[in-house]
Amino acid sequence: MRTKIVAGNWKMNKNLEETEALLSELSAKLPDTDAEVIVAPTFVNLVAAQRSLQGSVIQVAAQNMHFAENGAYTGEISADMLLHIDVDTVILGHSERRSHFGETDELLAKKVKAALEKDMTVIFCFGEELEERKSETHFSVVESQLKNALFDLDAQAWKNIVLAYEPVWAIGTGETASPEQAQEMHAFIRKTIAGAYNDSVADEVSILYGGSVKPANASDIFSKPDVDGGLIGGASLKSTDFVDIIKAI
Ligand code: 13P
Repeated sequence: MRTKIVAGNWKMNKNLEETEALLSELSAKLPDTDAEVIVAPTFVNLVAAQRSLQGSVIQVAAQNMHFAENGAYTGEISADMLLHIDVDTVILGHSERRSHFGETDELLAKKVKAALEKDMTVIFCFGEELEERKSETHFSVVESQLKNALFDLDAQAWKNIVLAYEPVWAIGTGETASPEQAQEMHAFIRKTIAGAYNDSVADEVSILYGGSVKPANASDIFSKPDVDGGLIGGASLKSTDFVDIIKAI
């Protein structure tokens, strides 16, 4: 059985005080669930988040990391630094990292490899732009994002990979992929992985959908057979909304 996951990507939001307040609200309201619940606050608040969540089932992830072990990379954070504070999950390849910070598939392949070498779990984001969907190249775009960043990994490494399909046109826009569009793409992703590896790798990998998931649309999206949960932006910043999305799974 694939793991169901609801993850909140807080992006560059919430100061220390707000982080602690939101986590205490979340902890108080968290429903019973079989799904894994993950939050990804900004780097400076990871330690505080871990402290606030001691004994909680809510897990903490980072939003990015560098591929190098350490060294002259001003402003960057290494896998070891995250592991030292017990953060063993990292989001990589978010479209905002790709578009605002020039992260390429080739760079992401190095980051993924570095994280996996440290036995971290990677939530790998990818997805097409609006123009690519309009020109109906979205399947080939997604296939090449996966191939370039992930298909050099051996099958064994996939046990530490979670995929997050996030069509760029649906991120922060209020426009979401329909449940059918999400299912169609997630099934395509699974088929592509089965082709590159085998059915068991494809069946085991959790594929999250991200892009304007809200309490009102979460159940419909999560009801699709190849959608194993969500990566939530805006709606993860309000405890009531995030909790309702967790309930939807
Ligand atoms: P929104 O839920 O705000 O559209 O953001 C999605 C996202 O980018 C999660 O990583």
